[in-house]
Amino acid sequence: MKILVLNGSPKRDQSDTMHMTRAFLQGMQDVEEQEIHIVHAIDLHVKYCTGCLVCMHNGGKCIQDDDMKDLLQEIVKSELIIFSFGLYCYAMPAPLKAVVDRTVPLSSMIMKKRGERYEHVRQGDFSRLRFLMIAGSGFPNSKHNFEPAVGAFKLKFPEDHTIITVPESPMFSVPEAAPLTGPRLDLLREAGREFAKNGAIPEPLMAEITSPMMPEAEYAAIVNSGV
Ligand SMILES: Cc1cc2nc3c(=O)[nH]c(=O)nc-3n(C[C@H](O)[C@H](O)[C@H](O)COP(=O)(O)O)c2cc1C
Repeated sequence: MKILVLNGSPKRDQSDTMHMTRAFLQGMQDVEEQEIHIVHAIDLHVKYCTGCLVCMHNGGKCIQDDDMKDLLQEIVKSELIIFSFGLYCYAMPAPLKAVVDRTVPLSSMIMKKRGERYEHVRQGDFSRLRFLMIAGSGFPNSKHNFEPAVGAFKLKFPEDHTIITVPESPMFSVPEAAPLTGPRLDLLREAGREFAKNGAIPEPLMAEITSPMMPEAEYAAIVNSGV
């Protein structure tokens, strides 16, 4: 499978979340050879979308000339796009958001109704594309914390999305936490295998992956003791 990983963390390979993403990819590779390209959004020369919307009327040509030109080509040729990021103010970090805004050329101005809401019709057939979000968070309480990012992701990619959220993710970069993070990374690898085989992650496995690695209050106490 042709996989494009968009790493939103400005910490590049030192990203807490990328530990999870790498484990997931290893699982996919366990099943079969994958063609993986990891892009650090922070290293791209991608200007902010100017909001002119010219691209939505002209068949998808952006007025700007930067790295987004090649990235859009790569996106449309991919089969799976993984958005990997830790929550920054309840959302994806700004460098990745800038990239997502600049995918507007893939949509036309034509709107169609899906259920109760409207969405733009795509300029091209991307029906084979699947979207996976892997997100970490510094807070231990995952439920409300991830809601804005998860909600936005579901609206942006209504078809064929999979979402993995893991709280307490700074622990992935702490070697002393390996007794807790190691088993979680094993579960993520298992999730990668399941995804490669069946295109989905079984609900019980997903529930284990998204749960806190240590009791919430204990995690908060450890974080607070270091302030
Ligand atoms: C600017 C900034 C904003 C953050 N906002 C949140 C937040 O809204 N919720 C949360 O749980 N953690 C938040 N965090 C903590 C990060 O999500 C956490 O450290 C995560 O593990 C970072 O992932 P990364 O290393 O992949 O970038 C924030 C961190 C930074 C630097």
